[in-house]
Amino acid sequence: MAKTAKIPGVLALIVLFWLPSTALAQAGDETLYQRLGGYDAIAAVVDDFIGRLATDPDLGRFFIGHSEDSQKQIRQLIVDQLCEATGGPCVYTGRDMKTSHKGMRISEEDWQKTAAHLVATLDKFSVPQALQDEVLALIGTLKEDIVEEM
Ligand code: HEM
Repeated sequence: MAKTAKIPGVLALIVLFWLPSTALAQAGDETLYQRLGGYDAIAAVVDDFIGRLATDPDLGRFFIGHSEDSQKQIRQLIVDQLCEATGGPCVYTGRDMKTSHKGMRISEEDWQKTAAHLVATLDKFSVPQALQDEVLALIGTLKEDIVEEM
């Protein structure tokens, strides 16, 4: 009798100490992808962001001349890129940033406007400041390959 009563006691201890630590470890281990809300959230952010770039009076010129189909392709590549870079399950199959932006003469000013649009998008989706900082830091690593004119 005394022996069998010990088993639930041991189980209770395991549950007490193991479960909360697992839950904590999982919360701490969440990727940026997960913390942003996963694929749909990232796709919505990219759609809004690209919409702002394409309709910006100064930046829109970069996107003129692309068929709807190639616009969709660029959009999908950016979703994949962001999804992969934030730790999501996607695979980016596009070209590297230097090759795909070379010759467009994207300037520092263009870059600053682009970054401001990204912040506006993240604000619109109520992405917390700490996450915004992580996204911007990630995007910032691409700058030297995209900006050609300082
Ligand atoms: C904010 C950081 C940026 C990211 C993450 C990014 C990402 C990408 C990606 C993934 C592609 C597709 C690459 C491929 O075709 O293989 C692309 C293409 C393109 N990007 Fe960016 N880009 C950024 C900044 C910019 C800026 C500042 C501009 C201009 C205002 C720009 C204009 C374009 C255009 C026009 C294309 C299409 C190029 C083509 O015709 O193939 N991008 N970008």
